[in-house]
Amino acid sequence: MYIPQLEDLGDVKGKTVLVRCDFNVPMTKRDDGEFDIVDDFRIRSSVPTLKWLVDHGAKVIACSHIGRPHGKWDPDLSIAPMAKRLHELLPEVEVLENLRFSKGEEENDDAYVQDLIRGVDLYVDDAFGAAHRVHASIVGPPKYLRSAAGRLLAREAEVLASLLEAPERPFVGIMGGSKVSDKMGLIKSLIDKVDTLIVGGGMAFSFLVALGRNIGDSMVEPDQIDICRNLLESTKKIILPVDYVALNSDAPFGRGINNGTAQCFSGDIPSGWKALDIGPKSSEAFQDIIMGAKTVLWNGPLGVCEDPRFSLGTQAVATAVAKFGGFSVVGGGDSAAAIEQAGLANNISHLSTGGGASLEFLEKGDLPGLKALRDSPS
Ligand code: 3PG
Repeated sequence: MYIPQLEDLGDVKGKTVLVRCDFNVPMTKRDDGEFDIVDDFRIRSSVPTLKWLVDHGAKVIACSHIGRPHGKWDPDLSIAPMAKRLHELLPEVEVLENLRFSKGEEENDDAYVQDLIRGVDLYVDDAFGAAHRVHASIVGPPKYLRSAAGRLLAREAEVLASLLEAPERPFVGIMGGSKVSDKMGLIKSLIDKVDTLIVGGGMAFSFLVALGRNIGDSMVEPDQIDICRNLLESTKKIILPVDYVALNSDAPFGRGINNGTAQCFSGDIPSGWKALDIGPKSSEAFQDIIMGAKTVLWNGPLGVCEDPRFSLGTQAVATAVAKFGGFSVVGGGDSAAAIEQAGLANNISHLSTGGGASLEFLEKGDLPGLKALRDSPS
C-alpha cells in the first residue's frame, strides 16, 4: 500500500509542519497533584519523525489527544506531562494542548481543521494509535495540505500489511482480552490467514460454552455463543484453554487485591468459581505452539494480568513470544505492557503502539488516517 513518506514532502526547511502524534499514554496522579507517566513508549516512538523534521530545518508543532474529555477542559487530561517528557528528549518542538478539549476534534468539524492548520505549511501523521478515528486532526489537514506519514505510522502499516500479505508459516495468532464481541470481526478475518489461532482471556469462555463446557461463574457474552459455535464448526484452527486458575465467585480481584482463594481446575469449572487465568497445562500447550511458529501475532492478555495471582498465563505467553525466534508482532496495551514489564521488548520484532488501530487495520487492511494521506494533495 502506497503512503506518502517524509521525503515526499519536498524541502521542509523553514516550513511549519503540524505533526499528529499519539501521546495518549497511561499516567498516575501523585498525592501532590502532579502526574507520573507510567509508560512513555508512545512518546519515545514519536521522536524519530519529529527529530527528522527538526534536523531538516522545519518548525515543528506536535499535537495529540489525551483520554476522552469530549470537548471539555479537564486539568487531569492536560498534555503538559507528555510535553514535559517530550521536551526532555527533543526540546525544539512546540506542543499543542489536548485536541479533544475542543468539540471540533471528535466531530471532525471543518472550522476546527481550519484553526488547526492556520499558518501551517505541511502535515505529518505519526499517530498510528489514533489512525482508526475519523477525527479532525487526522483526516482534516490532509484535505488541504501536502501530507505524509511519519516513520512510526509508516512502519506500523508496513509490518501489519506484511502479516496480511505474506507471513512466514506457521503463522500463529494469539487473541486475549475480556470481550469476544470486540474482536470477533478480527477473528473472522484472521482465521483464513493464520495456521493456528490461540484464544484465551475472558473471550475464550463464549467459545467454551459453545462447546458445551461448564464455565462456572466465568464471564460470557450470551449473544456471541452461536457465532462462536459456527466458527468452531467451520475451522479446526482455534485452540482454547484446557485448564484455568479460578477464584471463588464472591471474592474481588484486581491490582493490589488479595482476597479469596485461587484454585486450578481442568476441564469444567464448578459453579461458585470464576476463571481469571489460563492454567499450567494450557500455558505449556500454548508455549509449544508458539515455539513451533515462524510468525506470531499477539493481541490481548490471557488472564487478569494486573492481579499477580492471574498473570502467569500472560507471562508464559510473553516469554514464548519473545523467545520463539521468528517474526513477532505484539499489539494492544496489556500485552505490550506484559512484554515491557518482563524486560522482553528488545526481543520482539515489532511492538505496536496501536490497540484499536492495529485490530482495525488487521481486520480491514486500511485505516481512515492512511486513506486521508493517500488522498492528500501532492
Ligand atoms: C489508544 O489509546 O488506543 C489511542 O490513543 C486511541 O484512543 P481512543 O480510543 O480514545 O480514540
